[in-house]
Amino acid sequence: MNAPTSDVDLLAPDAIADPHAIFAALREMGPIVWLTRHRAWMFTTHEAVRLGFHDQRLSSDRLTPLEGRLDDASRAAMGQTFDLLRGWMVFHDEPEHARLREPLRRTFTPSRVTDLRPRIEEIVDELLDDLADIDEPDLVRDFAFPLPAIVIAELLGVPAEDRDDFKHWSDQLAAIVFGSANRTAGIERAAAGSAKFVDYFTGLVDRYTSEPTNNLISALIAVTSDDPDAGLAPTELVGALTLLLFGGHETTTNLISNSMHSLLQHPAQQRLLRSRPEQLSGALEELHRFDGSTMWCCARPTSATASRWKQARPCFWACSAPTAIRSCLRTPTICTSTARTPDHIWATDTAATSASARRSLGWKPRLQSAA
Ligand code: HEM
Repeated sequence: MNAPTSDVDLLAPDAIADPHAIFAALREMGPIVWLTRHRAWMFTTHEAVRLGFHDQRLSSDRLTPLEGRLDDASRAAMGQTFDLLRGWMVFHDEPEHARLREPLRRTFTPSRVTDLRPRIEEIVDELLDDLADIDEPDLVRDFAFPLPAIVIAELLGVPAEDRDDFKHWSDQLAAIVFGSANRTAGIERAAAGSAKFVDYFTGLVDRYTSEPTNNLISALIAVTSDDPDAGLAPTELVGALTLLLFGGHETTTNLISNSMHSLLQHPAQQRLLRSRPEQLSGALEELHRFDGSTMWCCARPTSATASRWKQARPCFWACSAPTAIRSCLRTPTICTSTARTPDHIWATDTAATSASARRSLGWKPRLQSAA
């Protein structure tokens, strides 16, 4: 493939501080750019990202290659982490992805999310009341972090007081899930976080097995015991619970924080939105696009493809790159005139579909405001 190359470092502090500038520069180079430093292809435009999501030659299995690159000692240290992450459907292609997803499809239903709405509104009100009483409030510490933590804890049936522990273990695991500049340190941290998660959730599964309660963990246990074909092995169940906690927590905290940051940096847009609160839903989606919590995703060529491609390297979808083109914050009219742009890569569809599911199920964008 003849593609332009760039030596940009996506994990460098300046790239993290202003990824849009990097994405814009890469987009100028072409729809697909070879990143020499990451040894990966970057898909930079809306069309390239859309095609990438549907391309069956690309795989969501990011664990096997990672495991293969480790030396024996590191692989042994990461044994429990890999066991845990193999329960995460996002790291699998079909049919394994669908098998791991089925218990959640049956239990984490739209009606379960809708039923949560009054309680979520109550939690938001309580947090805002508390915020008003704090001398030096911090949006992340006092609102964006506790809100999803409390909601997901209640959804799962996990004591919300333990949220600082989850945060710590999630951060430890993030070192490996999102990639770390220092792999050795990342391995140690991820192993420590995984061990804590496994202990914690194994204890909760034991508890709700003997005392079923109206929560998602009990519902997942029931699916597992009622229908062996739809059930999860114990390590997969713990993996699924970790995915829910990890996936729904960091993402939502970062979306709230980034959105507020964007509005503070664009006061005209903030004023516009305040004057037209009925546009909030569309604006939220635009904010998600503009500076959401998922900057880029990664896929790998399947093993069959890798043997044919010269550069059997990972591919990054720069999800934020194409979005910046149309963002309401850069072109203010979009925010108020077309609340929702029809051709987005994905919506704020929280318990949504993974890249692999979209590829195999002919995924179509849909809108939802669950988080
Ligand atoms: C702003 C909030 C959120 C964002 C930006 C977000 C983003 C994403 C992305 C990008 C994926 C696909 C990952 C991949 O395939 O590699 C994903 C999958 C997933 N997310 Fe979220 N998420 C959010 C909130 C949530 C919440 C609140 C939950 C649950 C409590 C959740 C649960 C999941 C699950 C279970 C999957 C896997 C779906 C599948 O593979 O079929 N997410 N999310």
